[in-house]
Amino acid sequence: MTEAIWTQMDAYFKDQLVREDPALQAAVQSSDAAGLPSIQISPTEGKFLMLLARAVAARRILEIGTLGGYSTIWLARALPAAGRLISCELNPAFAEVARSNLQRAGVGEFAEVRVGRASDTLSKLIAERAEPFDLIFIDADKDGYPDYLTAALKLSRSGTVIVADNVVREGRVADASTTDPNVRGLRRYIEMIAANPRLSATALQTVGERGYDGFALALVCDTD
Ligand code: DHB
Ligand code: MG
Repeated sequence: MTEAIWTQMDAYFKDQLVREDPALQAAVQSSDAAGLPSIQISPTEGKFLMLLARAVAARRILEIGTLGGYSTIWLARALPAAGRLISCELNPAFAEVARSNLQRAGVGEFAEVRVGRASDTLSKLIAERAEPFDLIFIDADKDGYPDYLTAALKLSRSGTVIVADNVVREGRVADASTTDPNVRGLRRYIEMIAANPRLSATALQTVGERGYDGFALALVCDTD
């Protein structure tokens, strides 16, 4: 089984199930033109996140790692009229590209990009006692995932869904002897969601146009 067949299947599902509109296509094109790394989620994954957000009737979404806003557009489109999305981005140039992509997609009024270290943005939200988020998508620097989870849990309620991208990395995340700080961050993240009594979690491997990777999904299950 080769990468070619995964890519073919992804193209088939995209063709059949995922209608990427011009704003999503333009978001990818303008991100590429601006020289952003081409590491955004795929169309089938974007629609998956959008459907997940709809399925949990998310009104407030938090994203950690905006890049050019491709996933942000998918997630924002799941929101009802009074919904709100906050996305954290370290790189101001990426944030500018994302903002223009969000405007073009018609979600700029309720999807906000906050520039700076995500840990600072999250600390500020915690200090402000921000209303809990319904869905949190972590897709930023991999060595930061453990800290992002700690912060995300403070911005969660029972029922909050926390999704993390890139938890497989072509299988490297199963290697306990790794010294790669990114893979170590991902391993620590998995250990943390496994050990936290507030969370019930799983992870799914994915193949497709992005190669071989996966998502972890954790549901906050408070009993009080
Ligand atoms: C990288 C980051 C991602 O979030 C991703 O989906 C793929 C690659 C990276 O930093 O290489
Ligand atoms: Mg990613």
